[in-house]
Amino acid sequence: MVRRLLAVVVTAAALAGIAPGPAQAAVPRESVVGGTRAAQGEFPFMVRLSMGCGGALYSPRLVLTAAHCVSRTGTNTSITATLGAVDLQSSSRITVQSNYVYRAPGYNGNGKDWALIRLATPVTGLATLPVATNTTYNTGTFTIVGWGAATEGGAQQRYLLKATVPFVPDATCDNSYPDLIPSDEICAGYASGGVDTCQGDSGGPMFRRDASNAWIQVGIVSWGNGCARPNYPGVYTEVSTFASAIATAAASLGG
Ligand code: ARG
Repeated sequence: MVRRLLAVVVTAAALAGIAPGPAQAAVPRESVVGGTRAAQGEFPFMVRLSMGCGGALYSPRLVLTAAHCVSRTGTNTSITATLGAVDLQSSSRITVQSNYVYRAPGYNGNGKDWALIRLATPVTGLATLPVATNTTYNTGTFTIVGWGAATEGGAQQRYLLKATVPFVPDATCDNSYPDLIPSDEICAGYASGGVDTCQGDSGGPMFRRDASNAWIQVGIVSWGNGCARPNYPGVYTEVSTFASAIATAAASLGG
């Protein structure tokens, strides 16, 4: 039900070119709820997209985001990516236009919620975020970041917010969301709620430290019932499931 409403809202938001992220249920919601401000340079791979979504720098020319943040595969010069600044109004921010969008093949609003946006010019001097290629890191404590709403139904944020949330096993998450797709989706949040991604954070990365203490992306902000509600964790695209498809798509886009 939550997921069904998602497509409708995404389309409306995309058409309007407005900030509130896709995937709203018929109830109010919030953003990186329970977060604090990220320091400048702390998450250099973070991208803000002009349709009101987040993303992560996958390579100097490619931004990994959510399928529900884009409308289709094909040439698209209408998206502006803002990078290199926690303050979206910073005079040192970098802005680059898109020139192509690749949406996950077969995406229909259920699972497969990933897409790549190609930038018209490569971005230099910003670290990229490697994606998990197996399930090793699909557990533990995750970092979530975004410029989305900080309270359910709240405004988009000027400054990047961050928070951490614990992994929620599929068997637990399925109790809250019977239509969860365990192979495609990974859940995170506290049973008591209070900390979560929210509208406008969609497409942004959920990540953790790997064995070498480097950041590795395990999720893409996808959906949830409201934001930060008790017993309703955030649902994220399970990046490891799609890592090889993403790599193939990236190669086809020129890397
Ligand atoms: N789909 C939303 C967006 O467009 C993100 C929803 C995340 N919700 C959550 N409770 N974690 O930004």
